[in-house]
Amino acid sequence: MPAEFSRRHLMQLACLSGVGMTTSPAWAQSPAADIGRAARFPPGFIWGTATSAYQIEGAVNEDGRGLSIWDTFSHTPGKIADHTNADRANDHYHRFKEDVGLIKALGVKAYRFSIAWPRVFPDGDGQSNPKGLDFYNRLIDELLANGIEPFATLYHWDLPQSLQDRVGGWRSSKTSQAFGTYAGYVSERLSDRVRNFFTLNEPGRFVNFGYGWAIDAPGLKLPTGELNQVRHNVVLGHGLAVQAIRAKARAGTRVGIAENIAACVPAVDTPENVRATEIATRELNAGILGVTLEGKYTDHFLEFAGKDAPKFTADELKIIGAPTDFVGVNIYAPQFYIVAKDKAPGFDVAPFPASFPHMKSEWLRIGPETAYWVPRLVAKVWKPDTIYISENGTSSEDKIAADGKVYDLDRIMFLRNYLVQLQRAVAEGAPVRGYFLWSLMDNFEWIFGFEQRFGLYRVDFETQQRIPKLSVSFYRNVIEKNAVGA
Ligand code: FCB
Repeated sequence: MPAEFSRRHLMQLACLSGVGMTTSPAWAQSPAADIGRAARFPPGFIWGTATSAYQIEGAVNEDGRGLSIWDTFSHTPGKIADHTNADRANDHYHRFKEDVGLIKALGVKAYRFSIAWPRVFPDGDGQSNPKGLDFYNRLIDELLANGIEPFATLYHWDLPQSLQDRVGGWRSSKTSQAFGTYAGYVSERLSDRVRNFFTLNEPGRFVNFGYGWAIDAPGLKLPTGELNQVRHNVVLGHGLAVQAIRAKARAGTRVGIAENIAACVPAVDTPENVRATEIATRELNAGILGVTLEGKYTDHFLEFAGKDAPKFTADELKIIGAPTDFVGVNIYAPQFYIVAKDKAPGFDVAPFPASFPHMKSEWLRIGPETAYWVPRLVAKVWKPDTIYISENGTSSEDKIAADGKVYDLDRIMFLRNYLVQLQRAVAEGAPVRGYFLWSLMDNFEWIFGFEQRFGLYRVDFETQQRIPKLSVSFYRNVIEKNAVGA
């Protein structure tokens, strides 16, 4: 900008403010007025953070743990960007007390972690391994002793390898049955202290990436019909787990799924586009969220699949659609910007321009409005009693500055904007009762290895030292005020 222009421009601005601002705004008059302007969350809103077993625990050969498909996959050359695996990861298995200290220092009241199925049933079914479950007993007791409520996820992608080898993993409904048995076993033993269980984490993701596109474990590229059957077995596994938890866990135990919902946003906020986005949300999530919440596949889903549609019975649909207590949605990028269309199915998906901004991870497009639209649309389409944001967060460069600190300003920008939008949805009545920030600390980010850092705490994977990033202060401040903004 030429110097001449900017001087003139500044003078104009100065004149304008001289003319227009005869009285100073509320925030300039008293500090108390600042607080009134923050975007407040309702009393009792649950602030939490999240991790998963394979990404942090390490200790893959200890206390009788069986192999998981992610052990095999990460040890296969060429699968992980930085050629690492999670054999050691954050060594959380041995350092969990220190890590609970980090959770406490954040000020959160809830912690979402996952249980490694191959620790509890090394072969996925058959003989259990009480030593494996003991780790979670120790972790849960430590959390409770520190006033942190445990939210346990039963499956965060680490399928026992033995099930993959013997029955083809989720290609067989025997895996769905085994998952139900495992869910009953765990909930029977932990529900005296764990009141909330998530069944599956991001089924949509592990089905497509693991069994359809060979990107994630177990690395298969199945044809559409078989892939649809895998997805069906997975939702059946969810239903059987819900059933088992109702049968085995203490009365009052709460259960739900945690899905990486196909996040739809109206391209332009017209009533027609909003209506089209409701239709899109229902149809683009019909294979997982829809069938679990409605107990049926939509007509459009089945017509579209045609001869590749999954095979199922009415009894299975009943199990899959068993009532749950909450819906967990993981919110990251906006996935579909929707425009209305006269012809069936009533919506179109607008293409993304190449210039659409993203965070450090290329896949993580920035769309704070996703945190508004997803809860609003889920509430409208399926009317659940309770929604949890089971994950939200971002990667960042996270370099250590000269003064030894990590100024993750982009993460703070991301969180601030997403939370303002979430607050808007809650203020309008969407029944969101809690939020779990992904993640407590940097960890093994699947195919990206340790290159993509999502933590509030930075981890040095050589020394295992954890240091708080600036976003720890940001999040603690949000939690203390139960509000975002000042
Ligand atoms: C989600 C996963 C979680 C983590 C974040 C960044 O899809 O559930 O394990 O990888 O993305």
